Amino acid sequence: MSLSIASPASAVRPSIACLSRRRPVGRSSRSQMRVEAASVKVTITPSDGGESITTTVDTASVLRTVILDTGAQLYGGMDRLMNCGGMGNCGTCLVDVVEGADLLSEQTEAELRKVKAGKLKEGWRMSCQCLVGGDAAPEGAELSVVVRPKK
Ligand code: FES
Repeated sequence: MSLSIASPASAVRPSIACLSRRRPVGRSSRSQMRVEAASVKVTITPSDGGESITTTVDTASVLRTVILDTGAQLYGGMDRLMNCGGMGNCGTCLVDVVEGADLLSEQTEAELRKVKAGKLKEGWRMSCQCLVGGDAAPEGAELSVVVRPKK
């Protein structure tokens, strides 16, 4: 990732063990697009119409960490203090994936529980549960997300 701004909220990062509990959903077309490793351009837009931030991800990274490292406000209000720190429990790290959904890892069990509960709309992801970038990313890949989507 080319942009790295430390923020207190990004101090707690999910462990790989947390993300390894994922359950595949359907068949990913991403494996068929596999080419050599490339960076992913990530555009982060606030739902309140604020200015977008763009960064680049060069290695597989947790989307929540990518967003927080840019200084973008992933959380609103008290969620800044009360979120679960990326453990997949609170559901406050939602993003609406506008472009590049196939660049993200499969939904985890934590996300599927939120879908079942009706708290995860079509196209939304829990950013702490998504990996972006890495060797599966095709050349010129672009991901665009809206943070704090309107519920
Ligand atoms: S930060 Fe709590 S579910 Fe993602």
